[in-house]
Amino acid sequence: MKYFFLAFAAVVLAVVLIAGPRGYKSTNRPFEFFPDMDRQPKVKAQTESVFFADGIGPRQAVPGTVPLGWDIPAKAGGDKPEMQRATNGYTAAPDYFNTGKMGDRWGDGLPVPATAALMKRGQDRYVINCQICHGANGGGNGVTSKYGWVGIANYHDQRIVDMADGEIFNTIANGKNTMYGYGGNITVADRWAIVAYVRALQKAQLGRPSDLTPEQQANLK
Ligand code: HEC
Repeated sequence: MKYFFLAFAAVVLAVVLIAGPRGYKSTNRPFEFFPDMDRQPKVKAQTESVFFADGIGPRQAVPGTVPLGWDIPAKAGGDKPEMQRATNGYTAAPDYFNTGKMGDRWGDGLPVPATAALMKRGQDRYVINCQICHGANGGGNGVTSKYGWVGIANYHDQRIVDMADGEIFNTIANGKNTMYGYGGNITVADRWAIVAYVRALQKAQLGRPSDLTPEQQANLK
């Protein structure tokens, strides 16, 4: 009988403890028996990391490695079709396609054919990677400038209009001053597509009818 009363008291106590506080409002977090995956040690897109010493969340590719699914940068003239195209007309600059350099200078000219597909790809990659800062028309007035980021390059400045294609390619890959490099995120071929699109943005603002051939001008009228 003694044990019965003890067990009875324990059950009553348990019921009171569990059911009793129901209905109370509390500012404390509820106790989690099964936290599921509510909290995970993960990095959210575009946020800082407290784990890595450099504080960068989105990791850059480790130098000398090739991320999964990416092309191994081959020397121009290799057996890949895009590499062969890269050497067309650039025999004096065998690695222009991968570096933007001809000898010790920035090279000029697209090492890939400027097709409509290349432009479309360039626009696509530009909107994803660059527009947030440089703006839809390349005027340096993207969303970040509305949050007070000053000094974002305006592609319509004469300095950038005059800049060699190879230098723009290099800025995309390695960054420039306060702009981070995007080499870890954008393949070599896509960087050239973006260069082509940046040129199109410049032409869209600064082009003159006199840039067109006489036939094209006639077509305009
Ligand atoms: C997070 C903002 C940001 C993003 C994204 C960004 N840029 Fe920039 N970019 C800048 C800033 C800021 C500068 C000016 C750097 C400086 O101080 O010279 C700049 C400069 C440049 C310049 C001029 C470099 C020079 O030599 O003066 C080019 C060209 C350029 N960016 C192209 C791009 C392209 C192409 C992309 C997309 C792949 C891109 N940027 C993405 C912020 C950004």
